[in-house]
Amino acid sequence: MTTIRDVAKQAEVSPSTVSHVLNDTRFVSEPTRERVLAAIKELHYRPNILARSLRRQETRMLGIIIPDNANPFFAEIVHGVEDFIFDENYTLLLGNSDGNSEKELTYLDLFINKQVDGVVLVSSAAENRASIDLLAANAVPTVIVDREIEIDSSDTVLVDNLAGGYQMTNYLLELGHRRIGCITGPSQLTPSAQRVTGYQQALKEAGVLIDPQLIVAGDFHSASGYRAAQTLFALSERPTAIFACNDMMALGVLGAAHDAGLDVPREVAVAGFDNIELGELILPRLTTIAQPTYEMGNLAAELLVQRLREPERPSERRVLLVHLIERESTRPS
Ligand code: RIB
Repeated sequence: MTTIRDVAKQAEVSPSTVSHVLNDTRFVSEPTRERVLAAIKELHYRPNILARSLRRQETRMLGIIIPDNANPFFAEIVHGVEDFIFDENYTLLLGNSDGNSEKELTYLDLFINKQVDGVVLVSSAAENRASIDLLAANAVPTVIVDREIEIDSSDTVLVDNLAGGYQMTNYLLELGHRRIGCITGPSQLTPSAQRVTGYQQALKEAGVLIDPQLIVAGDFHSASGYRAAQTLFALSERPTAIFACNDMMALGVLGAAHDAGLDVPREVAVAGFDNIELGELILPRLTTIAQPTYEMGNLAAELLVQRLREPERPSERRVLLVHLIERESTRPS
């Protein structure tokens, strides 16, 4: 099936320019318009969007895009969305972007062609211009969740990541730790950057020097947590505690500690962020910062349905609170 991106490539414009030509939603120069229309003709692109704009009918379908469907955190977001919209007689199309902005764009294009009424987007990147333009050009009601990106008149549901990073680091300081490792998520994602800022603020306020060697990059997947822990364990002055910026990486740290023969928490305390269910099932159970994950999904769905009912309502930016859950991975039972 020819997509809007094929047309854009052929006409050497962005997907959003193709959308603007199709929907007449923004000025496009005559030469560009002609190139786009020629590409549509050559590629036999079937612009469903025109049909939708003429019909303006509801499909009662919503789309959600998440970055990693293998991570229980995102599954819980979807759970919260789906529970809310089911009662509102909507069905849900799921797209897994694998943290890839190109794949995210492909799913958004697919959702637009399937004429979804709205989208919940957990973005793959901090700044995904092409996706943002495509959504805006097609005036698709969108709610942004977890990773903050700027889309005009979209609602946003976040948590206070900085407070979470600060709270966890303070807690580890209060346990007496002074060499606290921090394993970050992808640095370009707002949740990770804010958690690391909270970690640094807590250390500064406690008068503890920030040692750059103690901050190691991860990617939110467990294997990166394992590798980052190995790096930290190899330091001449090994950290006595490690704060991983999400639970999946913290699980990797627990595996690395086990393989290195280090006792958790006596030789190294381990903490995460998210409060996925696995953290309660593994031993030692994982200390973490709990996100109101299900509620985030539920609220995102509620805001989206309200938007569909009242398109002109002012956009909202909701920041939900997080809280620390102490378990045996930081304090001996
Ligand atoms: O575990 C996945 C991470 O990515 C979570 O911490 C969530 O906040 C998202 O940003």
